[in-house]
Amino acid sequence: MLKVENLCFAYGKIRAVNGVSFELKKGELLAIIGANGAGKSSLMKCIAGVLKAQSGDIYLNNKKIPSSTHKIVRSGIALVPEGRWIFPNLTVEENLFMGGYIVKDRKAGINRSYRMFPRLEERKTQRAGTLSGGEQQMLAIARGLMSNPQVLLLDEPSLGIAPLIVNDIMSIIKEINEEGVSVLLVEQNARKALGIAHYACVLERGSIVKTGTGRELAQDESIIAAYLGGVKGK
Ligand SMILES: Nc1ncnc2c1ncn2[C@@H]1O[C@H](COP(=O)(O)OP(=O)(O)OP(=O)(O)O)[C@@H](O)[C@H]1O
Ligand SMILES: [Mg+2]
Repeated sequence: MLKVENLCFAYGKIRAVNGVSFELKKGELLAIIGANGAGKSSLMKCIAGVLKAQSGDIYLNNKKIPSSTHKIVRSGIALVPEGRWIFPNLTVEENLFMGGYIVKDRKAGINRSYRMFPRLEERKTQRAGTLSGGEQQMLAIARGLMSNPQVLLLDEPSLGIAPLIVNDIMSIIKEINEEGVSVLLVEQNARKALGIAHYACVLERGSIVKTGTGRELAQDESIIAAYLGGVKGK
């Protein structure tokens, strides 16, 4: 469904994405794990068209994706960026409304958001900037879904969120995927990401150094040592 081939992006001399290739199949949840500065956000921004890759190709359903962010959203790819970037002075509902600018029936999208995130419905008239970190992340995900994407790109949804809420967010991501949305999940929280991912890639200094199923990588000694705090999970 989403195919990335030999993608390269550099900020001046800094090569952030260095020949990345992978495929996200329909209905799959693919995690990309990697340390700070590995190039995860740069990769996501290239796919969403926020950054223009210097070389390489990105295909959605065997067609090259358009070049502008706006057209990329219309083609069926939505990015929930790192740091959330909600509109703090707008209400929860207004934020959702903005996210659905390309769809005809925004009310249906908003209802779906509330079904998925009852907390957001309880807070629909609250200004988004006054939500807790976890609630803001839920809003950012719900807003991303408002464009009815085929592929949802999630950049560090667990960042800065209390551990208990991280579990809620991970279950919601799994649920979104089970409802048929293909998900590309970028996470520093490798344990959580591998726990829900069908497949995963490890990104190091802009390149993919390992791929496998979520389960395989969670059991891999070098991954455990480098990304899972040296402790084997269940
Ligand atoms: N706007 C920028 N200008 C110059 N260099 C940048 C810029 N943004 C990122 N970089 C560099 O590109 C590399 C990859 O950064 P990126 O943000 O993609 O990493 P990341 O894997 O998302 O990290 P984190 O886990 O901290 O979010 C880093 O070396 C970073 O310093
Ligand atoms: Mg990042």
